[in-house]
Amino acid sequence: MLVLGVETSCDETGLALVRTADGQARLLAESLASQTDIHAVFGGVVPEIASREHQRMLPPLLADLFAKTGLAAADIDAIAVARGPGLLGSLLVGLSFAKGLCLATGAALIGVNHLHAHLLAPGLEGPMRLPALGLLVSGGHTHIYRMDSPTRFTLLGRTLDDAAGEAFDKVAKLLNLPYPGGRYLDELSRGVQPDTALFPLAYVHNDNLDFSFSGLKTAVAEYLGKRHHLAYANMPDAQALRREGASSLSAHPEELALVAASFNHAVAETLRIKVERALDREKGLASLVVAGGVAANSHVRSSMAAVAQARGLAFSLPSPALCTDNAAMVARAGALALAAGYRHGLDLESVPRGRSVPTDWTHDPNLVVGDA
Ligand code: KG4
Ligand code: ZN
Repeated sequence: MLVLGVETSCDETGLALVRTADGQARLLAESLASQTDIHAVFGGVVPEIASREHQRMLPPLLADLFAKTGLAAADIDAIAVARGPGLLGSLLVGLSFAKGLCLATGAALIGVNHLHAHLLAPGLEGPMRLPALGLLVSGGHTHIYRMDSPTRFTLLGRTLDDAAGEAFDKVAKLLNLPYPGGRYLDELSRGVQPDTALFPLAYVHNDNLDFSFSGLKTAVAEYLGKRHHLAYANMPDAQALRREGASSLSAHPEELALVAASFNHAVAETLRIKVERALDREKGLASLVVAGGVAANSHVRSSMAAVAQARGLAFSLPSPALCTDNAAMVARAGALALAAGYRHGLDLESVPRGRSVPTDWTHDPNLVVGDA
């Protein structure tokens, strides 16, 4: 089965072609157009600009996919589209594009929960073992799930305010770094021992599985408020940061590195404490899965790998490029749902951030699309 994945939920326009056979999904090709440099100067994603960019980029990205693979629209068996949660206008562009292609080609349609797709991404690089505990850490969400099957996720805990990635981006903004700044804080802290007493662990002295990062963000803001010299004098250009490195552009690299390392540590440690708590409670788990943009963070990656190893669990973590938004994960999640007999009609609706994604698909085990 050939599945086209469509991702337009935030500021990355992504298309990917995945071929499924014998229960495995193989990525044939993907095309991704990142809008981050366009939004960077605004300090966050501007929804209207994001929608227009998706609209502009989808047709050339599709042509690029066909050129790379020698395939054509008529070869596509199904289209998997991220239907939420995300920016409503951006999602609508992706959904309309997917529905139009379905109408034109007769391909089956499946709407995919963007968050579930993140957690299924590691399956593109190796086998995943379920049931699993899934930690999704992205710019908009910090969720802990129990994953019983590719279509059965139970939410166990979530952030009550800022998402982990949001905390990273807000701290980066205080330092005058361009949006999204999480990766620069990670980069600045590489190889530096954190001061574990510098910032508090947020919302861990309770017995629940929820998160709150706003207290940590405020603590860092207060700390930096008394040390204005640590912020970059002028916002460095994203390309200059990539070329020269965040450290070499800072006037006080060593002091800044300690702040970055201590903040990274506080986030990673908070995530670890709640994940360990969830692992203590959930029975019969085979693996730990960590995904989403913040799963690209080096502190989070090593701390979660250690947790899985100590508990004798298999560990699934996508390579950094598959942690951030991409269409390959959407294609894989859709292929798995289709193979289990799920389908959506052309009345599929998008779901904005803040609303939970309904399981409004039709299920007919006899109408299985594909063989995954
Ligand atoms: O999953 P994602 O690409 O988009 C959403 O669905 O939100 O996640 C983006 C988030 C941003 O907040 C970004 O700053 C953060 O992931 N991020 C990182 C790193 N790479 C991306 N945060 C910390 N360390 C990183 N290396
Ligand atoms: Zn995402």
